[in-house]
Amino acid sequence: MNKTAIIYSYNTKKTGKIATLIQEGFEDSTIEMLNAEEITEDIFLSFDHIIMGVATWFDGELPNFWDEFVPALEELDLTGKKIALFGLGDQKGYPENFLDGVGIMAGILETQGATLVGFTSSEGYEFESSKALRNDVFMGLAIDYENQGSMNQERAAAWVEQLKKEFA
Ligand SMILES: Cc1cc2nc3c(=O)[nH]c(=O)nc-3n(C[C@H](O)[C@H](O)[C@H](O)COP(=O)(O)O)c2cc1C
Repeated sequence: MNKTAIIYSYNTKKTGKIATLIQEGFEDSTIEMLNAEEITEDIFLSFDHIIMGVATWFDGELPNFWDEFVPALEELDLTGKKIALFGLGDQKGYPENFLDGVGIMAGILETQGATLVGFTSSEGYEFESSKALRNDVFMGLAIDYENQGSMNQERAAAWVEQLKKEFA
């Protein structure tokens, strides 16, 4: 049976809330929550399906809790892994870098051979540019707590249903 993990920093409040919504949506007690700040290569590689929470901080950069693991990630063979990214960003506050963290992480994972799933439409968002876009589609789930928080639940629920199919 395929093993699934949701990885995010336990020190984040908003990312953590979305991680919990996603876990609840799966209604599957075998899905493990893991702290991004304590993840190791061996643990990461022990999962077939991985959902990662990646906010954007610092004007278009990854949050610093990923800094320690990214160099390790850049050495891993992720062939055969299906990975889905959910990102948090603020399209009004940072319209030129909306959700860039997802694009940065997507690039790292694809370079290492992972198959990315969970792409979503960019309709309904307003921003100038985003590294998370490929052919006008987000390479993951885009959550904007600051400006569209009332849509979080609906967006997360629809994404989980999409992932159930794409992970199958
Ligand atoms: C200092 C700072 C810089 C930020 N930079 C960006 C950015 O470049 N792009 C973006 O989309 N969001 C940016 N954000 C918004 C955060 O991604 C957003 O607030 C998110 O909900 C944070 O989630 P977290 O608290 O779980 O890390 C920034 C927020 C702060 C406080």
